[in-house]
Amino acid sequence: MAVAKLIDGKIKAENIIEIIKKDSLNLQKEYNIKPGLAVLIIGEDPASHIYVKNKRLKAESCGFYSTQHTLPNDTSEEIILNLINELNDNDKIHGILVQLPLPKHLNETLITQAIRPSKDVDGFHYMNVGKLNSGKTSDAFIPCTPAGCMILIENELGNDLSGINAIVIGRSNIVGKPMASLLLKAHATVTIAHSKTKNLEMLASQADIIIVAVGSPNMVKASWIKPKAIIIDVGINRVGKVIDGEIKMGLTGDVDFNDACNIAGAITPVPGGVGPMTIAMLMSNTLSAARLSAGLEKSTSTKEI
Ligand code: GUN
Repeated sequence: MAVAKLIDGKIKAENIIEIIKKDSLNLQKEYNIKPGLAVLIIGEDPASHIYVKNKRLKAESCGFYSTQHTLPNDTSEEIILNLINELNDNDKIHGILVQLPLPKHLNETLITQAIRPSKDVDGFHYMNVGKLNSGKTSDAFIPCTPAGCMILIENELGNDLSGINAIVIGRSNIVGKPMASLLLKAHATVTIAHSKTKNLEMLASQADIIIVAVGSPNMVKASWIKPKAIIIDVGINRVGKVIDGEIKMGLTGDVDFNDACNIAGAITPVPGGVGPMTIAMLMSNTLSAARLSAGLEKSTSTKEI
């Protein structure tokens, strides 16, 4: 039986990080600008703390100026908005990220929209959302996870997806919707499926590319997959896994990986697929923010998209 190619997001991300390190050094030498990233985390969510720590360490390894603002769960909106305003006006900071999800009492829209669009390295501000949806990406920030997925897809199929059917399963603002915009920009024919979609299996089985970002372990079955399709699994689910005969907590994606490998053409593993690309794209967006602040073009590390 044919076995799918494993799409190694870890190696691709490492290659991108190497380009970013060099470009960042050049920016400092030629323009005396050190890219700066500020990350805010509110509350105690353990997974979020791990993600934020990884972002901070990666920023430091890229030679960026990096600050982390860790605030207690009961922090008021006013304190957060004041901090964002200070960071908006801080010339050493080029990118600002507020880790989601936020504690329930906080208004996510109010907080994400308070970040100045030119520092919005998450690409959540409506100005950046609108630019992406209009296909005007030369100075827009694209959300990191779909940007990373798109690079992996282009690595397999090139940057012209004319005539290709893609299905995006999940319609979140962070992944599903921007992913669909990027695919459309590359000329793919795009279906967006979600929890109210009927005949999901039938729709998926017609797709040359399946991108799934739902958060439901092993949801996409091998029987849904067209032979040789490219499968991009954005899911990160913590589940009990049998490792060396013992049940341990491990990560699983939204795709029934072992069976899918027998039918797909190429597939991202979890972990080691999309995850490392997300962090690499955050670094790329931060470098781009610093470059744009000096009147230069965005970073070449994401030139493809
Ligand atoms: N939480 C999960 N993914 C993301 C992301 O891409 N950006 C932010 N800010 N929070 C997240």
